[in-house]
Amino acid sequence: MYDDNVTLTGIKKEIDVARQGEVLYHQNLTSASRKFYIESYGCAMNFSDSEIVASILAEDGFGPTRIMEEADLILVNTCSIREKAEDTVRNRLRVFNALKLKKPDMMIGVLGCMAERLKAKLLEQEKLVDIVVGPDAYRDLPNLLAKVDDGEKGINVLLSREETYSDISPLRLDSNGIVGFISIMRGCDNMCSFCVVPFTRGRERSRDAYSIVAEATDLFQRGFREVTLLGQNVDSYKWTNPDTQEHVNFAQLLERVAQVHPDLRVRFSTSHPKDITNEVLHTMSSHENICKYIHLPVQSGNSRILDLMNRTYDREWYMERVEAIYKIIPDCAISSDIICGFCTETEEEHRETISMIQWAKYSMSYMFFYSERPGTPAAKKLKDDIPEDIKKRRLQEVVDTQMKISQQVNKADIGKTFKVLIEGNSKRSDQEFKGRNSQNKMINFPKQEGLKAGEYTWVKVTDATSGSLRGEIVEK
Ligand code: 5AD
Ligand code: SF4
Repeated sequence: MYDDNVTLTGIKKEIDVARQGEVLYHQNLTSASRKFYIESYGCAMNFSDSEIVASILAEDGFGPTRIMEEADLILVNTCSIREKAEDTVRNRLRVFNALKLKKPDMMIGVLGCMAERLKAKLLEQEKLVDIVVGPDAYRDLPNLLAKVDDGEKGINVLLSREETYSDISPLRLDSNGIVGFISIMRGCDNMCSFCVVPFTRGRERSRDAYSIVAEATDLFQRGFREVTLLGQNVDSYKWTNPDTQEHVNFAQLLERVAQVHPDLRVRFSTSHPKDITNEVLHTMSSHENICKYIHLPVQSGNSRILDLMNRTYDREWYMERVEAIYKIIPDCAISSDIICGFCTETEEEHRETISMIQWAKYSMSYMFFYSERPGTPAAKKLKDDIPEDIKKRRLQEVVDTQMKISQQVNKADIGKTFKVLIEGNSKRSDQEFKGRNSQNKMINFPKQEGLKAGEYTWVKVTDATSGSLRGEIVEK
């Protein structure tokens, strides 16, 4: 099941991979006089934001460290999506505070969604927090740090309608140098009734298309072979060139990034069922390097619950979109996010979610039970009336169903041959590589002389579990 301690979206696995690399770029920065340590929680967007923060701090004379004890500044980039995510951060703050008792000059800062949601309360409640910075105010960090140096507290939680950090080149701290993340938009205008994101990340805005293509090109030239375009709802990406009035939609952006180089794989997340167009699907099918994988959260399989969630589509609409995907891109894998036990959900409605998993044949899902968030439309208008034991039982049923389906769709890959981007040694053995196919499935296979991480190879699948595939290198 999904682990709030780590990250939140369909890109969780890539991030885990990136973290294992632990390659420090910009080695010169490690000798900077003051050091920062940053921990990130929540979605891939937060991890990507931390790289922007790192870049801003580097300009301000701070160097990165992975050793908490040697830091002059500890930052935690936080998530508010579920109560558990916030609890995790509070526990971490306690650990940092204990460290600060031994090192009183150390500064502690809270970034991201919790900073935005709780604002000054964080300074008051968690006494040892010095800095609180919301997702649109990271450029103000040097100024806020100077305030703290002068003995004040630093807070900036202003949301912006324009900020996209498009001119900031992210500092890729924990990257394996092969897969990278590019933020293409910020905020969300959707107002799903359960979700706190529109309140913590503000209005939706799209980033300059040229700066996105330039970032992808730079990553490719530095040896990266995969980029994931990130946004809360990538299908509503739209950017207008202020000089030429040229409009760029998501399908067009995807195509431009795919054209950077045929050896640069392109992924994206997250897609919204109400917005994903056939144009996007056709663009995917006509470019080999756009990965055949769509994270298309359904949230619930029942139309009445979808309406209460304000998802603006119903079960039939969602099924039509899935059919269009499998028709236009027959080898596409689809994954999902699912919330169990939303307000007033009946057993019958819950079973419609289970049948959706079976029907859509998700390769995997992130599955949660509903956690009421203060201030959201659901918290204001609906009663969180499903008892916790029922929520948990339904979640378990959803998890069990997904496990079976994942196993079934993975077993169907046995005998097929896939192009795999090698990401490094497998978890189990340094005699084996691991890598992903276009469908975002992890494949482990014995190494072959002359091949290394960052290269492509062809792998024939010989075995499968619900979580990964096994295979062997074949000639193509
Ligand atoms: N409770 C449980 N899950 C939630 N999500 C968002 N808000 C909540 C909430 N209040 C889930 C959704 C979303 C994913 C990122 O987190 O499934 O797609
Ligand atoms: Fe939240 Fe819905 Fe926006 Fe996703 S699309 S961030 S679930 S409001």
